[in-house]
Amino acid sequence: MRKLPIAVLAAALSATAVSFGAAAQSNNSAGTGLEVVDEAMPDSVAADVAAFQGYFRERFPEVEFDAYNDGVNALPQYAERRENWVLLMEFPPYEEHVERGREEWNTPFANGKTFADCAKDWPPANVYPVYVPETDDLRTIVGDINACLEANGEEPIKNLNNGKMARLVIAYKEQFNGERINVDVSHPGAAKWYEKGKEFYWTKRGQLNFSCADCHVHSSGQSVRGDVLSAGLGHTSGFPVYRTKWALGGKPLGTVHRRYGGCNRQVRASSFKSQGPEYKALEMYEAVMNTGIPLKVPSQRQ
Ligand code: HEC
Repeated sequence: MRKLPIAVLAAALSATAVSFGAAAQSNNSAGTGLEVVDEAMPDSVAADVAAFQGYFRERFPEVEFDAYNDGVNALPQYAERRENWVLLMEFPPYEEHVERGREEWNTPFANGKTFADCAKDWPPANVYPVYVPETDDLRTIVGDINACLEANGEEPIKNLNNGKMARLVIAYKEQFNGERINVDVSHPGAAKWYEKGKEFYWTKRGQLNFSCADCHVHSSGQSVRGDVLSAGLGHTSGFPVYRTKWALGGKPLGTVHRRYGGCNRQVRASSFKSQGPEYKALEMYEAVMNTGIPLKVPSQRQ
């Protein structure tokens, strides 16, 4: 496909940008994510969630809250392609990978233990990333999988973006499908990570000078280079995903940090390390914005 010149892309997106604040409202009505918000969520964070989710409720009134876990497939602007996707889902292309991941999950280590022995002590998948006060760090499922391997005398997995790591994350997360995302930001240390992720999300970067929000908030539903831009609401809930575009390159699965790297590079910005502090903070911010969205892992994407 012919690529649009950069200037055209930038102009196309900014021309129709909608002010975020204008549509931001409280959205405490039934059926929204906010009913599962922990009492302990700081007021300012709860207000951010209400503004973010309220914005999409206004922008796409026909989209049910829970449907945002279908990513771009949920949006009316994608309706024409949605039929193909629905057909594809009758025999999802990710099935064999899910099966393989379950086998890997259940294969004993040299010491006879398995991932399930570690995971007995893990938080449910819908509350990740989890703040650890002792280390002032965030736990991710990717990190916990490697910690489990190391604790059992096995080599950690080096490729944190696709392949075996993605399959193992799916094997854990799929057990919690349907559970609503609910990340704890009550600790002041967790709130700091959240703020860092929020700043990343709204900061313009790269040669194109775009923030995550420019594409996934203000321009969601618009077409760019043959893609429709998904709503930021729902991001993370389907990951790891099986992506047709990635399948063409022989690596169909991707963690959410793989996706972040791709989005950074799209605007000609440098990407950051998977599982580094920048993307962990971003995952925290996106997960908090998704408060109440049910997990649906893996998902299929174009
Ligand atoms: C130039 C526009 C652009 C920018 C800026 C951008 N993205 Fe994307 N992003 C895309 C496109 C195109 C896709 C693929 C279609 C879709 O799902 O939106 C995508 C997909 C995604 C997805 C996958 C959603 C899903 O459910 O499959 C995530 C998550 C995501 N972006 C996060 C981010 C984050 C975080 C940032 C900021 C670091 C960002 N993006 C910046 C264009 C952009």
